[in-house]
Amino acid sequence: MKVQSCLGVSLILLLFLCGFVASAEDGTQKCKLSPETKSERQVLDRLIPLLHKNFTAVKKDDKENYKYVFQLCGDAGGVPGAGVVQYDEQKKSQMIVGRYNSTKAIGGSDWVMLIYESGDKYKTHCNGGNRQATIMISCQTSTVADSLEVMLEDREGDDCYYLFEMDSSAVCPVNNSKLSAGSILLIVGFCLVSAYLIGGFLYQRLIVGAKGMDQIPHYAFWAEIGNLSADGCDFVCRSKPREEPNEYRGVASEPEEEPEERDDHLLPM
Ligand SMILES: *[C@@H]1O[C@H](CO)[C@@H](O)[C@H](O)[C@H]1NC(C)=O
Ligand SMILES: *[C@@H]1O[C@H](CO)[C@@H](O)[C@H](O)[C@H]1NC(C)=O
Repeated sequence: MKVQSCLGVSLILLLFLCGFVASAEDGTQKCKLSPETKSERQVLDRLIPLLHKNFTAVKKDDKENYKYVFQLCGDAGGVPGAGVVQYDEQKKSQMIVGRYNSTKAIGGSDWVMLIYESGDKYKTHCNGGNRQATIMISCQTSTVADSLEVMLEDREGDDCYYLFEMDSSAVCPVNNSKLSAGSILLIVGFCLVSAYLIGGFLYQRLIVGAKGMDQIPHYAFWAEIGNLSADGCDFVCRSKPREEPNEYRGVASEPEEEPEERDDHLLPM
């Protein structure tokens, strides 16, 4: 019966986890890949823990003062369609650097490169082409998502882009996020031991009618094991013979009331 409830609880947990993953899956659907491929979508889905958050980076020196906001497959800084927005804090203007309706995602074992194209057009630079944002996300186990950094804006050649860097545990190689075989074994072992203890206790108490310590299943056996290991330890670990405490020998202890009968009112027999 206990095994069944353990299984039941595990099943519910499993369903809950699966449901959670499934409901999170549609999160990156707002990012349009062209063409839509399964492998690229899988790369994008590795970033799911980053969804629904604005990430901010500041680039400030004597000439310029820019703030950048990035969001995964959602309106960065609340600007419709924008994946990365640049705010010019001096001119109080904003520019869309990349849109999530033109997304590309490339991934390696411990990194993902996210590219948003179709940003606002340059006026003079880069042949008047579209701005484009590249966000390099690298594995860092200690943080879910952290420290968006502006690396550079390349507007020298024809293919111009803004480069950002970010650390996240989301792109780390997957092995510790799932239950390992070891922990499943542990859980099963725990269930079996509890089933043994509780089932054995109920059997001893209700069917055999045992009292006191005898309610522990196979009490004699476990007690014997305990005594044997205590003896073994005594033999191996003790450096000199035990001193017999003899000061209190003479005092005879009062016979206590029968301890076995004390918990009888707890369970109806
Ligand atoms: C991102 O920032 C914008 C502007 O501050 C805000 O309106 C929006 O709710 C934010 N989105 C999230 C998911 O925090
Ligand atoms: C993305 O949206 C922008 C603005 O709405 C539009 O100009 C552009 O053509 C779209 N790009 C794609 C690939 O759909």
